[in-house]
This record gives sequence, C-alpha cells and structure tokens, in this order.
Amino acid sequence: MRLERRGRGREYSVTCRLCGDRGFILRDEVAVSCKCLKEKALAKLLKDSRLPQSFLKCSLENFSFKYYARNCTDMETGIGISYYEIAQIAFKAAGGFISNFLKDPHTDGLLFTGQVGSGKTYLACCIANALLKKGQGVLFAVVPDLLDEIRSTFDPGRASDDPTEFDLVDRARQAPLLVLDDLGAHNYTDWTRNKVYSIINYRLNHRLPVIATTNINPENLEGYLGERTTSRLLEMCRPYRLLVDMDIRAVQRKERDSRLIR
Ligand SMILES: Nc1ncnc2c1ncn2[C@@H]1O[C@H](COP(=O)(O)OP(=O)(O)OP(=O)(O)O)[C@@H](O)[C@H]1O
Ligand SMILES: [Mg+2]
Ligand SMILES: [Zn+2]
Repeated sequence: MRLERRGRGREYSVTCRLCGDRGFILRDEVAVSCKCLKEKALAKLLKDSRLPQSFLKCSLENFSFKYYARNCTDMETGIGISYYEIAQIAFKAAGGFISNFLKDPHTDGLLFTGQVGSGKTYLACCIANALLKKGQGVLFAVVPDLLDEIRSTFDPGRASDDPTEFDLVDRARQAPLLVLDDLGAHNYTDWTRNKVYSIINYRLNHRLPVIATTNINPENLEGYLGERTTSRLLEMCRPYRLLVDMDIRAVQRKERDSRLIR
C-alpha cells in the first residue's frame, strides 16, 4: 500500500510504513535495516528470474503424485519400476538439488526428460521457486523463446536501450542457476546449435548448474543437439524421467470439467 507523506511543503508517497522508504529503522537508537529491503530484493530476484506467472506457485509441497500410475511400469529401465516410483526418484533428486545448491552453488544440475505434460517444467519450477525464496539468483529460459529473443536483437528497428545479443547470452551464461525449459524444441540451424552450445559450454567451464527439461530421450539428444553440446549437458546434469499414462494437462482439464458439471 502506498501512503502519502508530507514534509516541508512537499508531498510524496511511501510504500513502507515502517521506515518511510529510508530502508532502516531505529531500534534502541541503533539503525537496523528494515524488512522491506529484503522484500524488495526478493521481488527483484523474482522479476529478474523471468519465471512465468503460472509457475510461480509450483512447490515441492504441492507436487502431486496422483498423476503417476503405480500400475504402469517403465520397461526401458529394465528393472520394471512404476511411473509412480520414477516420479518419486525425480522428486527426491529435485529436493536433493535444492539442498546441495544451498551448500555449494557449483553442484551438478538435473535433466528432466519425458512426454508432453508429464510435469518436467513443474518440477524444474519447484526448484526455481524454492531457491528464489532463499534469495538465490535463478533465470528461467524457454529455449525456443530465448533463441527468438536473441535473434530479434539483430532487428534494425530495435530500440537503442533494448538488450543486445551479448546481454541476453551473458545473462544465460552467468545466472547462478539456469533453467533451460523445452530444450530441443527449437528449430535446428548451425546458429541455434552454436548459441545453445556456447551457453552450456560456458556454464560447464564455470561449474554453474543447469536444470533442463526436454521431450527428447537422453539417447537421442545427440542427434538433435549435436555431440559436443550433448556430451557437456550429460556431464553437468543427471538425467531423470517423468512418465505418465495421460498428459497431466488433459487430466486437469477433465477434473475441471467434472467440477463444472457437478
Ligand atoms: N506433479 C504435479 N502436481 C501438480 N500439478 C502438476 C504436476 N505436474 C504437472 N502439473 C501441472 O500439469 C501441467 C503440465 O505440466 P508441465 O508443464 O510441467 O509438463 P511438461 O512435462 O513440462 O510438458 P511439456 O513437455 O509439454 O513441456 C501444468 O499445468 C502443471 O502445473
Ligand atoms: Mg514443459
Ligand atoms: Zn521499510
């Protein structure tokens, strides 16, 4: 809430009742920083993360296992574990990543693979949200959109204060945690392959973790991303699968429809 403050004939608005936007309050005559500073820093981290609105509420606490069938087994693993157990393994890895990152931000990343609507982005965003709440820097990038945005910097009509190609690539290279969503869903040209390579290679060299999501199976990644990028990605990210017998979006749509009918 904004409050009006008057002083020396001037009128100006303040957002913090506690400190009047000075950033500190006096406690026993000692200046201590006001809690609004922390709130502002968190709001900035959240804005800079570019996490989409619809994923801001994802959290491990709200992660539901009901979409992962106990009676469907993943034949590819050879040990016949259920979709439910596979989801539990991925979920545990997400929790492990959060605690590892908080101890040492140069930790191994994760690669979530699986079909459309199996919860990969959801789980990646659970990690992003948990770390943002702890004040850690995260950048969420949908790979095809990031590449389009980089390409648009070549547009001669762009404004002079728009980010440059270097700004965008550098932000993806340097973010303490980078979420690469929908990796492999972009079109393939030498240019797109090189951009993805240059971001991943930089992060590997500086031991900066990546959480990636993709519909492509790890064994097919090389055919799409190329040998050099895939080799680096698999070195820096441990692969986990999420499998569903039905797209979670379709399940949730059915749930919503049946609530409307009742
Ligand atoms: N475990 C879960 N608990 C609750 N909601 C979930 C869960 N997993 C996914 N959802 C919801 O289901 C929808 C699809 O999930 P998500 O976007 O993570 O799928 P995806 O595997 O990334 O799909 P795609 O390959 O199409 O990108 C989202 O609206 C998400 O909020
Ligand atoms: Mg997704
Ligand atoms: Zn304040």
